[in-house]
Amino acid sequence: MVARAWVLLLGVVLVTAAAKSATAAPLRRPVAVPFGRNYVPTWAFDHIKYYNGGSQIELYLDKYTGTGFQSKGNYLFGHFSMDIKLVPGDSAGTVTAFYLSSQNSEHDEIDFEFLGNRSGQPYILQTNVFTGGQGNREQRIYLWFDPTIAFHTYSVLWNLYQIVFFVDDVPIRVFKNCKELGVRFPFYQPMKIYSSLWNADDWATRGGLEKTDWSKAPFVAAYRSFHVDGCEASVEARFCATQGLRWWDQKEFQDLDSFQYRRLLEIRQKYTIYNYCTDRSRYPTMPPECIRDHDI
Ligand SMILES: *[C@@H]1O[C@H](CO)[C@@H](O)[C@H](O)[C@H]1NC(C)=O
Repeated sequence: MVARAWVLLLGVVLVTAAAKSATAAPLRRPVAVPFGRNYVPTWAFDHIKYYNGGSQIELYLDKYTGTGFQSKGNYLFGHFSMDIKLVPGDSAGTVTAFYLSSQNSEHDEIDFEFLGNRSGQPYILQTNVFTGGQGNREQRIYLWFDPTIAFHTYSVLWNLYQIVFFVDDVPIRVFKNCKELGVRFPFYQPMKIYSSLWNADDWATRGGLEKTDWSKAPFVAAYRSFHVDGCEASVEARFCATQGLRWWDQKEFQDLDSFQYRRLLEIRQKYTIYNYCTDRSRYPTMPPECIRDHDI
Protein backbone atom coordinates (compact mmCIF):
# COMPACT_ATOMS: atom_id res chain seq x y z
CA MET A 1 0.00 0.00 0.00
CA VAL A 2 2.71 2.41 1.03
CA ALA A 3 4.71 1.60 -2.10
CA ARG A 4 1.66 2.23 -4.31
CA ALA A 5 1.12 5.59 -2.64
CA TRP A 6 4.74 6.50 -3.35
CA VAL A 7 4.44 5.55 -6.99
CA LEU A 8 1.30 7.65 -7.25
CA LEU A 9 2.97 10.60 -5.57
CA LEU A 10 6.00 10.28 -7.84
CA GLY A 11 3.64 10.25 -10.82
CA VAL A 12 1.98 13.43 -9.66
CA VAL A 13 5.35 15.10 -9.15
CA LEU A 14 6.53 14.06 -12.62
CA VAL A 15 3.34 15.25 -14.31
CA THR A 16 3.55 18.56 -12.48
CA ALA A 17 7.18 18.96 -13.50
CA ALA A 18 6.30 18.22 -17.14
CA ALA A 19 3.48 20.76 -17.09
CA LYS A 20 5.84 23.33 -15.55
CA SER A 21 8.43 22.99 -18.29
CA ALA A 22 5.76 23.92 -20.88
CA THR A 23 4.90 27.07 -18.96
CA ALA A 24 6.00 30.50 -20.15
CA ALA A 25 8.06 32.31 -17.57
CA PRO A 26 6.53 35.38 -15.94
CA LEU A 27 7.40 38.74 -17.46
CA ARG A 28 10.04 40.71 -15.60
CA ARG A 29 8.67 43.39 -13.29
CA PRO A 30 9.84 46.86 -14.21
CA VAL A 31 11.66 48.78 -11.48
CA ALA A 32 10.49 52.29 -10.65
CA VAL A 33 12.73 54.98 -12.12
CA PRO A 34 12.05 58.69 -12.62
CA PHE A 35 10.46 59.82 -15.88
CA GLY A 36 13.54 61.83 -16.92
CA ARG A 37 15.81 58.81 -16.88
CA ASN A 38 14.26 57.34 -20.04
CA TYR A 39 11.73 59.84 -21.38
CA VAL A 40 11.37 63.44 -22.59
CA PRO A 41 8.22 65.49 -23.23
CA THR A 42 7.40 65.80 -26.93
CA TRP A 43 5.21 68.90 -27.07
CA ALA A 44 3.26 71.27 -24.79
CA PHE A 45 5.75 70.80 -21.95
CA ASP A 46 3.58 72.86 -19.58
CA HIS A 47 0.79 70.27 -19.88
CA ILE A 48 2.82 67.63 -18.02
CA LYS A 49 2.98 67.63 -14.22
CA TYR A 50 5.55 65.70 -12.17
CA TYR A 51 5.10 64.08 -8.75
CA ASN A 52 7.31 62.18 -6.30
CA GLY A 53 10.57 63.22 -7.90
CA GLY A 54 9.22 62.39 -11.34
CA SER A 55 8.25 58.81 -10.54
CA GLN A 56 4.68 59.72 -11.45
CA ILE A 57 3.38 62.18 -14.03
CA GLU A 58 0.08 63.51 -15.35
CA LEU A 59 -0.76 64.56 -18.88
CA TYR A 60 -3.31 67.37 -19.32
CA LEU A 61 -5.63 67.94 -22.22
CA ASP A 62 -7.57 71.18 -22.52
CA LYS A 63 -9.23 73.15 -25.30
CA TYR A 64 -5.86 74.44 -26.45
CA THR A 65 -3.72 71.34 -26.56
CA GLY A 66 -2.97 67.83 -25.42
CA THR A 67 0.55 66.64 -24.75
CA GLY A 68 2.86 63.65 -25.01
CA PHE A 69 6.26 62.17 -24.34
CA GLN A 70 8.73 59.78 -25.94
CA SER A 71 11.66 57.62 -24.98
CA LYS A 72 15.14 59.03 -25.38
CA GLY A 73 16.40 55.71 -26.69
CA ASN A 74 15.55 53.52 -29.66
CA TYR A 75 14.96 49.86 -28.98
CA LEU A 76 15.14 46.67 -30.98
CA PHE A 77 13.14 44.03 -29.10
CA GLY A 78 12.26 43.87 -25.44
CA HIS A 79 9.38 44.16 -23.03
CA PHE A 80 7.90 47.65 -22.88
CA SER A 81 5.44 48.46 -20.16
CA MET A 82 3.70 51.44 -18.65
CA ASP A 83 1.33 51.87 -15.72
CA ILE A 84 -1.53 54.13 -16.76
CA LYS A 85 -4.62 55.46 -15.00
CA LEU A 86 -6.90 56.76 -17.73
CA VAL A 87 -8.93 59.99 -17.80
CA PRO A 88 -11.77 59.55 -15.26
CA GLY A 89 -15.34 60.81 -15.52
CA ASP A 90 -16.49 62.19 -18.83
CA SER A 91 -13.62 61.35 -21.19
CA ALA A 92 -15.67 61.19 -24.40
CA GLY A 93 -13.68 62.30 -27.44
CA THR A 94 -10.29 61.87 -25.77
CA VAL A 95 -7.68 59.34 -26.82
CA THR A 96 -4.78 58.17 -24.67
CA ALA A 97 -2.12 56.29 -26.59
CA PHE A 98 0.86 54.17 -25.66
CA TYR A 99 2.84 52.84 -28.61
CA LEU A 100 6.14 51.91 -30.16
CA SER A 101 7.14 53.28 -33.53
CA SER A 102 10.15 53.43 -35.80
CA GLN A 103 10.88 56.79 -37.37
CA ASN A 104 11.13 56.17 -41.09
CA SER A 105 8.75 56.09 -44.04
CA GLU A 106 8.10 52.33 -44.16
CA HIS A 107 7.62 52.34 -40.48
CA ASP A 108 6.77 49.65 -37.94
CA GLU A 109 4.39 50.46 -35.12
CA ILE A 110 2.75 48.65 -32.20
CA ASP A 111 -0.22 50.55 -30.70
CA PHE A 112 -2.42 50.69 -27.66
CA GLU A 113 -5.13 53.36 -28.01
CA PHE A 114 -7.66 54.01 -25.25
CA LEU A 115 -10.84 55.64 -26.52
CA GLY A 116 -12.66 57.61 -23.82
CA ASN A 117 -16.38 57.69 -23.19
CA ARG A 118 -19.17 59.49 -21.34
CA SER A 119 -19.20 58.96 -17.56
CA GLY A 120 -20.00 55.39 -16.66
CA GLN A 121 -19.73 54.17 -20.27
CA PRO A 122 -16.91 51.78 -21.14
CA TYR A 123 -13.58 52.71 -22.65
CA ILE A 124 -12.49 50.88 -25.76
CA LEU A 125 -8.97 49.54 -26.11
CA GLN A 126 -7.91 49.56 -29.75
CA THR A 127 -4.69 47.83 -30.79
CA ASN A 128 -2.92 47.90 -34.14
CA VAL A 129 0.28 46.63 -35.74
CA PHE A 130 2.06 48.34 -38.64
CA THR A 131 4.78 46.54 -40.54
CA GLY A 132 6.73 48.20 -43.32
CA GLY A 133 4.28 51.14 -43.29
CA GLN A 134 1.19 48.97 -43.59
CA GLY A 135 -1.34 49.01 -40.75
CA ASN A 136 -5.11 48.49 -40.97
CA ARG A 137 -4.95 45.68 -38.44
CA GLU A 138 -7.26 47.11 -35.81
CA GLN A 139 -8.70 45.05 -33.01
CA ARG A 140 -11.00 46.52 -30.37
CA ILE A 141 -11.98 45.19 -26.98
CA TYR A 142 -13.70 46.37 -23.81
CA LEU A 143 -11.64 46.00 -20.65
CA TRP A 144 -12.81 43.78 -17.78
CA PHE A 145 -12.24 46.57 -15.23
CA ASP A 146 -12.67 50.33 -15.00
CA PRO A 147 -9.28 51.65 -16.17
CA THR A 148 -9.84 55.08 -14.57
CA ILE A 149 -9.92 53.98 -10.92
CA ALA A 150 -6.43 52.56 -10.48
CA PHE A 151 -3.18 52.10 -12.37
CA HIS A 152 -3.01 49.07 -14.65
CA THR A 153 -0.01 47.76 -16.53
CA TYR A 154 -0.08 47.77 -20.32
CA SER A 155 2.84 46.13 -22.04
CA VAL A 156 4.26 44.80 -25.27
CA LEU A 157 6.59 41.84 -25.55
CA TRP A 158 8.49 42.05 -28.84
CA ASN A 159 11.01 39.49 -30.00
CA LEU A 160 11.82 37.73 -33.27
CA TYR A 161 8.96 35.27 -32.81
CA GLN A 162 5.98 37.30 -31.70
CA ILE A 163 4.51 40.57 -30.55
CA VAL A 164 2.23 40.14 -27.54
CA PHE A 165 -0.02 42.82 -26.06
CA PHE A 166 -0.59 42.36 -22.33
CA VAL A 167 -3.00 44.01 -19.94
CA ASP A 168 -1.89 43.27 -16.37
CA ASP A 169 0.00 40.19 -17.63
CA VAL A 170 -3.06 38.87 -19.47
CA PRO A 171 -2.32 38.48 -23.19
CA ILE A 172 -5.02 40.23 -25.21
CA ARG A 173 -3.45 39.97 -28.64
CA VAL A 174 -0.66 38.11 -30.40
CA PHE A 175 0.95 38.98 -33.71
CA LYS A 176 3.12 36.04 -34.69
CA ASN A 177 6.07 36.29 -37.02
CA CYS A 178 4.47 34.96 -40.23
CA LYS A 179 7.24 35.83 -42.64
CA GLU A 180 6.94 32.38 -44.24
CA LEU A 181 3.39 33.47 -45.23
CA GLY A 182 4.76 36.63 -46.82
CA VAL A 183 3.76 38.97 -43.97
CA ARG A 184 6.39 41.48 -42.94
CA PHE A 185 7.40 41.35 -39.31
CA PRO A 186 9.21 44.16 -37.45
CA PHE A 187 12.71 42.85 -36.95
CA TYR A 188 15.31 45.37 -38.03
CA GLN A 189 13.99 48.89 -37.39
CA PRO A 190 14.50 50.15 -33.82
CA MET A 191 11.50 51.84 -32.24
CA LYS A 192 10.94 54.59 -29.74
CA ILE A 193 8.23 54.41 -27.09
CA TYR A 194 5.58 57.13 -27.20
CA SER A 195 2.57 58.20 -25.22
CA SER A 196 0.11 61.02 -25.68
CA LEU A 197 -3.27 62.40 -24.72
CA TRP A 198 -5.22 64.32 -27.33
CA ASN A 199 -8.66 65.22 -28.63
CA ALA A 200 -10.11 63.00 -31.36
CA ASP A 201 -13.82 63.61 -31.02
CA ASP A 202 -14.26 63.30 -34.78
CA TRP A 203 -13.92 59.49 -34.45
CA ALA A 204 -13.05 58.20 -30.99
CA THR A 205 -16.34 57.83 -29.13
CA ARG A 206 -19.26 56.02 -30.78
CA GLY A 207 -17.59 56.73 -34.09
CA GLY A 208 -17.52 60.50 -33.49
CA LEU A 209 -21.13 60.92 -32.35
CA GLU A 210 -20.09 61.85 -28.81
CA LYS A 211 -18.16 65.11 -28.70
CA THR A 212 -15.67 66.27 -26.09
CA ASP A 213 -17.38 68.29 -23.34
CA TRP A 214 -14.86 71.07 -22.81
CA SER A 215 -16.63 72.26 -19.67
CA LYS A 216 -15.14 69.10 -18.07
CA ALA A 217 -11.56 70.04 -19.04
CA PRO A 218 -8.79 69.59 -18.16
CA PHE A 219 -8.74 65.86 -18.87
CA VAL A 220 -5.99 64.10 -16.97
CA ALA A 221 -4.24 60.75 -17.49
CA ALA A 222 -1.66 59.54 -14.94
CA TYR A 223 1.47 57.49 -15.58
CA ARG A 224 4.14 55.70 -13.60
CA SER A 225 6.77 52.98 -14.08
CA PHE A 226 9.24 54.49 -16.53
CA HIS A 227 11.68 51.64 -16.66
CA VAL A 228 12.52 50.39 -20.18
CA ASP A 229 13.47 46.74 -20.62
CA GLY A 230 14.71 46.72 -24.20
CA CYS A 231 17.85 46.44 -26.25
CA GLU A 232 18.94 49.99 -26.94
CA ALA A 233 20.19 50.53 -30.48
CA SER A 234 21.07 53.42 -32.75
CA VAL A 235 18.36 54.45 -35.24
CA GLU A 236 20.27 52.85 -38.13
CA ALA A 237 20.98 49.60 -36.29
CA ARG A 238 19.93 46.46 -38.13
CA PHE A 239 20.40 44.19 -35.17
CA CYS A 240 21.00 44.49 -31.50
CA ALA A 241 24.39 43.77 -29.90
CA THR A 242 22.89 41.33 -27.41
CA GLN A 243 20.30 39.85 -29.77
CA GLY A 244 19.28 36.33 -28.78
CA LEU A 245 20.83 36.63 -25.33
CA ARG A 246 18.29 38.68 -23.38
CA TRP A 247 15.47 37.24 -21.28
CA TRP A 248 12.74 38.11 -23.80
CA ASP A 249 14.56 36.11 -26.52
CA GLN A 250 14.50 32.86 -24.58
CA LYS A 251 12.40 29.80 -25.35
CA GLU A 252 9.74 30.52 -22.72
CA PHE A 253 8.92 33.84 -24.41
CA GLN A 254 8.83 32.60 -28.01
CA ASP A 255 5.25 31.41 -27.75
CA LEU A 256 2.40 31.65 -25.28
CA ASP A 257 1.82 28.62 -23.10
CA SER A 258 -1.51 26.80 -22.98
CA PHE A 259 -2.69 28.72 -19.93
CA GLN A 260 -1.96 32.03 -21.66
CA TYR A 261 -3.70 30.87 -24.85
CA ARG A 262 -6.77 29.98 -22.80
CA ARG A 263 -6.80 33.44 -21.20
CA LEU A 264 -6.36 35.07 -24.61
CA LEU A 265 -9.23 33.10 -26.08
CA GLU A 266 -11.46 33.86 -23.12
CA ILE A 267 -10.76 37.62 -23.35
CA ARG A 268 -11.39 37.64 -27.08
CA GLN A 269 -14.63 35.71 -26.79
CA LYS A 270 -15.98 37.87 -24.00
CA TYR A 271 -14.73 41.34 -24.86
CA THR A 272 -14.09 41.66 -28.59
CA ILE A 273 -15.93 44.49 -30.32
CA TYR A 274 -14.06 44.47 -33.59
CA ASN A 275 -11.41 42.34 -35.25
CA TYR A 276 -10.07 43.15 -38.73
CA CYS A 277 -9.43 39.43 -39.20
CA THR A 278 -13.15 38.72 -39.29
CA ASP A 279 -14.21 41.87 -41.18
CA ARG A 280 -15.22 40.33 -44.51
CA SER A 281 -16.49 43.59 -45.99
CA ARG A 282 -13.03 45.05 -45.58
CA TYR A 283 -11.02 41.90 -46.24
CA PRO A 284 -12.93 39.48 -48.49
CA THR A 285 -10.04 37.07 -48.04
CA MET A 286 -8.61 36.81 -44.58
CA PRO A 287 -5.22 38.53 -44.16
CA PRO A 288 -2.58 35.76 -44.00
CA GLU A 289 -1.38 36.50 -40.46
CA CYS A 290 -4.95 35.94 -39.22
CA ILE A 291 -4.74 32.28 -40.12
CA ARG A 292 -2.17 31.86 -37.37
CA ASP A 293 -4.24 34.14 -35.17
CA HIS A 294 -7.26 31.85 -35.46
CA ASP A 295 -5.22 28.72 -35.00
CA ILE A 296 -5.57 28.95 -31.25
C1 LIG B 1 -19.12 54.18 -25.23
O1 LIG B 1 -20.36 53.76 -24.74
C2 LIG B 1 -21.26 53.31 -25.73
C3 LIG B 1 -22.57 52.99 -25.04
O2 LIG B 1 -22.38 52.07 -24.00
C4 LIG B 1 -20.68 52.09 -26.44
O3 LIG B 1 -21.51 51.70 -27.50
C5 LIG B 1 -19.28 52.43 -26.99
O4 LIG B 1 -18.68 51.27 -27.52
C6 LIG B 1 -18.42 52.98 -25.86
N1 LIG B 1 -17.04 53.30 -26.21
C7 LIG B 1 -16.62 54.12 -27.16
C8 LIG B 1 -15.18 54.45 -27.17
O5 LIG B 1 -17.33 54.57 -28.04
